[in-house]
Amino acid sequence: MKQTIFSIQDLKKYYLVKLGLFKKAYIKAVDDVNFLIREGEAYCIVGESGSGKTTVTKMLLGLELPTEGKIEFLGKDLSKLLSDARSAKDFRKNVQAVFQDPFSSLNPRKTVKDILEKPFKVHNEKIEMETTERLLEEVGLIPPKEFLKRYSHQLSGGQRQRVCIARALALKPKVVILDEPTAALDVTIKAQILNLLIDLKEKYNLTYIIISHELPLLKSIADKISVMYAGKIVEEGAAERIFNNPKHPYTLGLLESIPPPDPKSAKTKTLPTLEGEPPSPVNPPKGCRFHPRCPYKFDLCDKIEPEKVEIYSEHYVSCHLFNRK
Ligand SMILES: Nc1ncnc2c1ncn2[C@@H]1O[C@H](COP(=O)(O)OP(=O)(O)OP(=O)(O)O)[C@@H](O)[C@H]1O
Ligand SMILES: [Mg+2]
Repeated sequence: MKQTIFSIQDLKKYYLVKLGLFKKAYIKAVDDVNFLIREGEAYCIVGESGSGKTTVTKMLLGLELPTEGKIEFLGKDLSKLLSDARSAKDFRKNVQAVFQDPFSSLNPRKTVKDILEKPFKVHNEKIEMETTERLLEEVGLIPPKEFLKRYSHQLSGGQRQRVCIARALALKPKVVILDEPTAALDVTIKAQILNLLIDLKEKYNLTYIIISHELPLLKSIADKISVMYAGKIVEEGAAERIFNNPKHPYTLGLLESIPPPDPKSAKTKTLPTLEGEPPSPVNPPKGCRFHPRCPYKFDLCDKIEPEKVEIYSEHYVSCHLFNRK
């Protein structure tokens, strides 16, 4: 069995917000999630806007503290790791991030060379010209000498994201957390960046945590998929299971945007469309949070929260349709 990189247990993040002059309420951004991320895996978290994906990644990066629950990195409690300067530095070196908007991620006053040298300076590591050139070659920015002197406004969106990926790889991390890495890019560029990520993962045995709201896009890269809805994981399993044997009605809805390979096929015709809006994170629906939008709901769904059931090896679903014994 591969080494466990992150272990996430009963994780919650509630934000206290003002609703009026005297009224306050909690936004339940992440509400009791559990999962394991193993070495070399591309672990993808998918869900609509507001489902809590970024909040999970902020906690994994140590940028937000959990309200409840525990995160372990390589078997050690993350909050303890971060409270010690040395181990915190080690963690930051090993766990890097790439965000959605490559434009705002890059300092407009710095050249690509400055940007790529910064991680080495922060970590007091030796930099050689070849190091930055090699990094640019790795991400397909060729000839590297030409790109080193450019500023971010002299790059296209795809090239900027390549620089962000090069910067994330500079210190040879174990894990790269990618929050919607292709959302701001054109369709063709999206595919190129995904292919680059697949190659780099193979080459450096990287572990990825990829956040996306487009489930179909993840098909070529995902090893495991967690489907989040209103702060909860409603389905989790090997990517191959999620694409070929999805169970939760919400997952089916997210897959609906895949063009059917064979339009005459009965299987693809039956996928339901996802109607309605995600619920309010302040007052999520009672019972199953998806029930107001679910085409298969029945009498239990608006009363009792479904438990997580393992329907196949490491394939979990939280839905009353699968809770019946
Ligand atoms: N600092 C904060 N204070 C209050 N509420 C917050 C804060 N950060 C996030 N939220 C709320 O928590 C919920 C989850 O937000 P999050 O950014 O994790 O969603 P997401 O799944 O990443 O969405 P998107 O796909 O739009 O990026 C949302 O309702 C959001 O408004
Ligand atoms: Mg987000």
